[in-house]
Amino acid sequence: MARNAEQNGGLYYPSEAVLADISVADFEALREAMRVDLAGTWAEIARAEFEWFEPWHTTLDESNAPFYKWFVGGKTNIVLNALDRHARSWRRNKAALIWEGENYECRSYTYHQLHREVSRFASVLKAMGVNKGDRVTIYMGRIPEIAIAMLACAKIGAVHSVVYGGFSVEALHGRIEDSESKIAITADGAWLRGNIVPLKNIMDEALLRAPTIQTVIVVKRTGQDVHMEPGRDLWYHDLMNLPIADAHIETEPMDAEDPLFLLYTSGTTGAPKAILHTHGGYMVGVATTLKWVFDIKDEDMWWCAADPGWITGHSYIIYGPLLLGATSLMYEGAPNHPFPDRWWDIAERHGVTILYTAPTAIRGLMRFGDAWPNRHDLSKLRLLGSVGEPINPEAWRWYHRVIGKERCPIMDTWWQTETGTFMISPVPSTPLKPGSATLPLPGVEIDVLDEDGNPVSPNEEGYLVIKRPWPAMLRTIYGDPERYVNNYWSRFPGVYMTGDSARRDEDGYVWVIGRVDDVIKVSGYRLGTAEIESALVSHRAVAEAAVIGVPDEVRGHAIKAYCILVAGVEPTQRLVEELRDHVAHEVGPIAKPATIEFVDTLPKTRSGKIMRRVLKARALGQDEGDLSTLEQ
Ligand code: PRX
Repeated sequence: MARNAEQNGGLYYPSEAVLADISVADFEALREAMRVDLAGTWAEIARAEFEWFEPWHTTLDESNAPFYKWFVGGKTNIVLNALDRHARSWRRNKAALIWEGENYECRSYTYHQLHREVSRFASVLKAMGVNKGDRVTIYMGRIPEIAIAMLACAKIGAVHSVVYGGFSVEALHGRIEDSESKIAITADGAWLRGNIVPLKNIMDEALLRAPTIQTVIVVKRTGQDVHMEPGRDLWYHDLMNLPIADAHIETEPMDAEDPLFLLYTSGTTGAPKAILHTHGGYMVGVATTLKWVFDIKDEDMWWCAADPGWITGHSYIIYGPLLLGATSLMYEGAPNHPFPDRWWDIAERHGVTILYTAPTAIRGLMRFGDAWPNRHDLSKLRLLGSVGEPINPEAWRWYHRVIGKERCPIMDTWWQTETGTFMISPVPSTPLKPGSATLPLPGVEIDVLDEDGNPVSPNEEGYLVIKRPWPAMLRTIYGDPERYVNNYWSRFPGVYMTGDSARRDEDGYVWVIGRVDDVIKVSGYRLGTAEIESALVSHRAVAEAAVIGVPDEVRGHAIKAYCILVAGVEPTQRLVEELRDHVAHEVGPIAKPATIEFVDTLPKTRSGKIMRRVLKARALGQDEGDLSTLEQ
């Protein structure tokens, strides 16, 4: 493939072997069917591929747009389709989840076993008073119990809100409070590069300020002593040894539109917002798009190397692969621990056939050179994937050549927490251009618009928008429907605003450029300037703060902060370190500014809004653009 790329105008065509292996029938016909009858085509898929307790009466209800509804009147449960049906089929003794700890400990669960564990924990949650519709905060590392906890919530109709284990006190506290969770599920700690992340301590500190939590269930993972608050904290293993951990529990029939989970993500302004996804549409969308893009088969070993605490982990470590009856691999630790070949070692030992990861991880591992992956037999790999930020062609080519041995097409999938599933992505038969997410999937209608909402010409940059609803779309922002409308549907009425800029080339291939709002992607993680700024000003030394993202070779972007100090405070290097640690403590280590500059003023508009675009232009030595609104 690679040899031909130059002769093919830079296009990488799939080999005969890849083409012969594709199990999804005529893709172009599907695209056309969706174009002609979007709801009808989704209805056909939903009927054929999933089990329903009761059929729906309206496939797509657009009467209250942008509050779209899918499969209205239908009753199902994502667990009915992700576990129950496989546990009663020939797949019951097939591995559902294979897990490797950072300390090389391995565990695997067949569909039967996972179904049983989930059922037992669902019974425990019920016995602890968790009811349908209740929110449950989950704060854990990458261990099987996070999947068990999420699926157990879903099974009884509770709404999980997973908080990424890399977030810290204030971020956790805000998410618990906003979701009004009654119960939290956590672990004593998580392993990361041989160190313990003290999850339970962080939870304890967050709970000092979150009185809604009545019960904390704690999984023992790292084994150090932790404080257990009498009357509030219970060990997971103790509960699972009680008769209340009953494996016989019915899966709750849920309305297709009932909430499945909340997932907090950073937006343009203010605190992170809770994106709400549902049982019906999310289920249909996530499984179907995963089948299209990675064409997972029963013999595959699927490895999504993300964290379950982000949408990628929700959709593609847990729900998507289980819905397809696939085997999903989860790895607990860091990619380069104890050596830079840890991932390649895992891929070889577990016979991984499809690897899905982020450009930042690829760039990070690329730095260690080709010798590390070359020590391993990666011949089982057949497809590779990328997500989270644009992949630079250099990293793409390395991934293609050194990891995929020029044999494995790379699926560069563009999507968001809000979209729930892949939206713009190649499928294995698509000719590839390094750095482009290629084409919208069937049923996804996109456009690139200028400031006035007019489509731009090929190769011109503009706002990436989505013009038709899709089953796995977010339904609202939990508790703030107005913000849902304002954030996504008001910039250009009637179309969904992604927050990204992009261009389409003459072949219609999409090149996502990056965020146009105040979201910064650091190592693929989505952070809001507002969260980091509010962490900085919560320090006694800081009067005002502004944060921007500056290009970084490995992480994509790094955080640069500008701070105005309180009068009389000395701008020392020690203070820089203190502020960085303070942000890590409040938001999480991922939010630590790479650099902090002390300044006397910040560029603001006359109405007092910080002009981050001016700061960014200055930091990059670029033209500062239109300064007419700048306060002089
Ligand atoms: O800017 C886009 C970028 O990640 C954003 C969504 O972030 P999040 O909600 O955290 O979800 C990440 C995992 C889906 C998008 O608005 N992004 C995601 N995938 C790509 C991408 N940018 C370019 N190419 C991609 N493949």
